[in-house]
Amino acid sequence: MQTLTDPVEMQTISEKLRLGRQLIGVVMTMGALHEGHISLIKLARKEAGTVILTIFVNPTQFGPNEDFHRYPRPFEQDAALARSAGVDYLFAPEAGAIYPEGFSTAVSCSGISDLFEGEKRPGHFSGVATVVTKLLQITRPHIAVFGEKDAQQLAVIRRLVSDLNIAVKVVAAPTMREQSGLAVSSRNIYLTAEQRESAGAIWRALQHAGERIAAGETGLTALAEATSTMIAGESGFTIDYVAFVDEETFMPAERAVKGRSYRILAAVFAGSVRLIDNACFVA
Ligand code: PAF
Repeated sequence: MQTLTDPVEMQTISEKLRLGRQLIGVVMTMGALHEGHISLIKLARKEAGTVILTIFVNPTQFGPNEDFHRYPRPFEQDAALARSAGVDYLFAPEAGAIYPEGFSTAVSCSGISDLFEGEKRPGHFSGVATVVTKLLQITRPHIAVFGEKDAQQLAVIRRLVSDLNIAVKVVAAPTMREQSGLAVSSRNIYLTAEQRESAGAIWRALQHAGERIAAGETGLTALAEATSTMIAGESGFTIDYVAFVDEETFMPAERAVKGRSYRILAAVFAGSVRLIDNACFVA
């Protein structure tokens, strides 16, 4: 595995690989790698001959009161995990290399970014869309793998790739879960053992919502409310939002139409730790 920090050097390598007809897969991360990331790398390995992993804690996607400064950065451990997972190139730039003096461009994706995480975390998706666009330009992949856990982020990335005619196939990787059902996330390390166990209630409630849809329930607003009550009751956590969106448009959905797919989104606070999760069901 070769480690690079210079965007121009990374881009030059990618261009050479492309000229050599190598299929390039990229996995973008902010580091603190866990088994969820490893599953993305494995998926990229299956689809592409060369795998690039990016590690960059992107300052522009954090709000002023968020955890940018305390975000875990175990670089040596990450590099070892990346190597053993079969990564060919690790691209880990400094902030100044991605946002040099005078940087003044932002990518924003309206509509799809406006609600849920976009509403709760103003500026977040513009930060994500900007850095993802840059990392796609730098790594020049044929395939880019993103986790379904960040469902709205995935929808934003699909939108920007389509809108900006970026020639990359976006592949969604299923969410990895802890024994309790809690979605694997770098931020889970902030949870106490007890919170980690209680957090299983989120996945159970989402699954329960799916069962009710499968049984023919169509009122999604009421079902989101019932799911919210179930999560709060079982976990003791504070609900930020629980809502359904249409899987195709990512717009809020109030009533299910038979045969269409809907995604239920949940954001909850376990103390000061914000957890998100989601699940998709066909009505
Ligand atoms: O999902 C993440 O880890 C980040 O949002 C991403 C896609 C690497 C952009 O910084």
